[in-house]
Amino acid sequence: MGRVHERCCATGTGKLLFSLSQPKFYSFIFQVFLIFLLSLTTRANEALQFSSSELCCVHVSPFFMNKLLNRLQIAIGKRKTLGKFRTTTPPPTFPLLDFASNDYLGLSTSQEQLALVRSIYDRAISSSPPPPLLGSTGSRLITGTTKISLEVESYIASFHSTSSALLFNSGYAANLSIFSSIPCQHDNVFVDELCHNSILMGLKLGRVPESSIIKFTHNDMSDLQSKITRHGSPSGTNIIATESTFR
Ligand SMILES: Cc1ncc(COP(=O)(O)O)c(C=O)c1O
Repeated sequence: MGRVHERCCATGTGKLLFSLSQPKFYSFIFQVFLIFLLSLTTRANEALQFSSSELCCVHVSPFFMNKLLNRLQIAIGKRKTLGKFRTTTPPPTFPLLDFASNDYLGLSTSQEQLALVRSIYDRAISSSPPPPLLGSTGSRLITGTTKISLEVESYIASFHSTSSALLFNSGYAANLSIFSSIPCQHDNVFVDELCHNSILMGLKLGRVPESSIIKFTHNDMSDLQSKITRHGSPSGTNIIATESTFR
């Protein structure tokens, strides 16, 4: 950013000097030449920084870095004053009743579940050809789809009596993907006011205009009905977004 600013200042000076002494045409040609020269030297500089640094690829001037750090520190200070500053801490080790996590069925500590996961993992490792052991190696569309991921999806589909299923890394990622890709420009989406933030963020990323995202009172079917009657889309589809578990 620093360089862009310097470049603008330099061409500004060139413009001033040459419009005083040269005819307009030559002044213009010279300015173009000057900009070209400046961009060449800037690129050469950047290339040098690129090859001489091990980790840092982009040069940010200390002035802009300090400005950014100051801004972030002010924002953090504000969050702390409002009691909204969050940190990551491991869960306590002493026994507690869990009202906070998503582990509703207690599967994370189930010994039966652990034995089942181990046996499936062992079977997957010994199958031929062996799947990657530590990680998918790539996106699902390229190298990340393994036999076991297809088996899990087909099991989930049959469990829910649907034709197919698609696994995501998290509920948040699933909601971002679905709500940013399925609703189209002419659709209206009616969202329960207590729906998870991931649904709203997905809609924000997608093609539905903000005025077509309509919140209805939590679990209130008569409010939903009246909002659909009032705002229902004549040309698109009316989509209702809600959850099976609100928390
Ligand atoms: C209703 C609801 N939807 C989506 C999510 C996001 O899911 P995940 O934590 O798997 O990203 C949560 C997380 O708590 C949730 O409660």
